[in-house]
Amino acid sequence: MVCRSRDVSAWIYLLALLYLCAHCASQLTFSISEELNKGAVVGNIAKDLNLKVQDLETRDLHIVSSYSKTYFDVNLRTRNLIVSERIDREELCPRVDKCSIKIQAALNTPMNVHRIEVNVLDVNGNSPSFVEQTNTLNISESLSPGVRFPLPVAVDADFGSNAVTSYKLSQNEYFSLDVQSGGEHEVSAELVLQKALDREKQAVIKLVLTAVDGGKPPKSGTSPLNINVIDVNDNTPIFSRSLYKLQVKENAVPGTFVIKLNATDLDEGMNSKVQYLLIKRGNIDPTNIFNLDLETGEIILKDSLDYEETRAFEIRVQAKDQGPVPRSAHAKLLIEVIDVNDNSPEITVTSIMTPVREDAQLGTIVALVTVSDKDGGNNGVTKCNVVGSVPFKLKSNYKNDYSLVVDGPLDRENTSNYDVTITAIDEGSPPLSNNRVIAVHVADVNDNSPCFKKPVINVYVKENSPVGSVIHTLTAVDPDLNENAKVTYKLLDTVSRNIPISSVLNTNSETGDIISLQSFNYEDFKIFQFKVQATDSGVPLLSSNVTVNVLILDENDNSPTILTPYSELGSVNSETIPYSAEAGYFVAKIRAVDADSGYNALLSYHLSDPKGNNLFKIGTSTGEIRTKRRMSDNDLETHPLVVLVSDNGEPSLSATVSVDVVVVE
Ligand SMILES: *[C@@H]1O[C@H](CO)[C@@H](O)[C@H](O)[C@H]1NC(C)=O
Repeated sequence: MVCRSRDVSAWIYLLALLYLCAHCASQLTFSISEELNKGAVVGNIAKDLNLKVQDLETRDLHIVSSYSKTYFDVNLRTRNLIVSERIDREELCPRVDKCSIKIQAALNTPMNVHRIEVNVLDVNGNSPSFVEQTNTLNISESLSPGVRFPLPVAVDADFGSNAVTSYKLSQNEYFSLDVQSGGEHEVSAELVLQKALDREKQAVIKLVLTAVDGGKPPKSGTSPLNINVIDVNDNTPIFSRSLYKLQVKENAVPGTFVIKLNATDLDEGMNSKVQYLLIKRGNIDPTNIFNLDLETGEIILKDSLDYEETRAFEIRVQAKDQGPVPRSAHAKLLIEVIDVNDNSPEITVTSIMTPVREDAQLGTIVALVTVSDKDGGNNGVTKCNVVGSVPFKLKSNYKNDYSLVVDGPLDRENTSNYDVTITAIDEGSPPLSNNRVIAVHVADVNDNSPCFKKPVINVYVKENSPVGSVIHTLTAVDPDLNENAKVTYKLLDTVSRNIPISSVLNTNSETGDIISLQSFNYEDFKIFQFKVQATDSGVPLLSSNVTVNVLILDENDNSPTILTPYSELGSVNSETIPYSAEAGYFVAKIRAVDADSGYNALLSYHLSDPKGNNLFKIGTSTGEIRTKRRMSDNDLETHPLVVLVSDNGEPSLSATVSVDVVVVE
């Protein structure tokens, strides 16, 4: 007999039983499954105890139990031991290999006790179950394969082989299960990492842990097992492009949006939070020109651009995550600055050969000009021209180098200075242009002779003019400049009426004054002619001649002269007339001359004596003396007449002559 009990009451019961056993008649052993229904037959107790039917009643067969519950009863009619109470093996003898209920079947008269042992066999009535509804494990993705994680244990109220005997894990690629049956009743399982996790591939792994008992058929219980893969900063940010290429116009104003960088990081949280940075390289600090928003990656223009200064920016940008050990990525940003026609052509005069001689040949170089335009492309292609009609043009030497050359006749006397406007225009849209004025001075060349106003000049000079007087001042004009226009005068020594002019006149070579060397007498010569040469001081000397006619003007410097026969030198100084002479009778004719000319020689005749003469008259212009009337007896015999001849000069000069008229019978 083997009795095993773990509690004290069972131990006491065992001692009692050992005592009783001294009087024991027999022992019956039955086996039943646990949890049979009330009334279920355990065995035919009467038959097994060799009891008659009537004994059962008369000897009062009853079941004695030391348990709080009786569990069994006897059906007197069927003589069967039956279950009177539902038996739960797990309650009755938890976690015990063998579970049996020991009872006695007691009989009176004679008193007899039969020991009955009912083995309660375990029925797989319970499924394994997990305490927690859901189990969650947080596992870092950085862990290496082989790492183990203890799993919760499932409980199964059943015993022995009906208890949990194994665990199973749902199909997955990362974990395996290591089931250990180390302890007495314990079967435990550990999760073993088989393959490194990758949060970025699968952040949550949903597994199902199944606990299986050893019953037949086996029962099982499941529990969801969620694995949260904990992020590790194992991903570097990745730029959406390794090279960002873009173009910005150089006139873009500060604040203009340039580009938005975008880098993504497969990690999570701070491990994926990307911050952007412009990287300084050498002396070039791109943050002077561009502003990069650390958080958004948006780049805006900070400063103004200048194509002429920088045509492109090659910038390295960084994206860095904020993990505990940050990872960073780089990309290149190529920003091309697009030229805008913002520069006018510039005209530079590199050399100027001015003044230019007015006799310069066509093609003579006056200036060297260079045109430049800082812009690129067509914005920097220029055309260059001379504005307006001037005797200059531009000749292209090489690319943007030009010569300003003489392209027409020059004449300093006409135009001595040119403001030559050069215009340069580029081919931008809209085009920009610029002007440059080159002052060209024309140098004088002795290409003009001194010039008199008229080739022949008449000079009128009064006779009797004082010696040394300036009778005329000659002027010859030379339009040239300076020495080329400095005129000197020279008398060309000619001879007029056998008189050498140089004895008559002199010239002041500087002033052109003509000075008389003698007093002229109209009555000697009235006109003479000479030439004066005007010469400039240029090289070669140029000259021109002028013919001067000197006309002497008469002065009333001669008195009338009475001609013979009535002159002082003449013999006749009396005339006779007959008494009978009619009125108008011709008496005499007085003739006079005057060396002067014109009015100075225009003579008139008057009877000056006797005054109030009423017998004779004289023709004022003819000089004829005639009678006015017939003679009378009262008239004198002799009439002394005085005739006055006067010229018309101013003042008037005169002469007188006396003629006696004698009247005869
Ligand atoms: C001026 O006169 C001189 C002398 O008669 C002569 O030799 C010269 O050729 C003349 N000059 C001009 C320009 O007529």
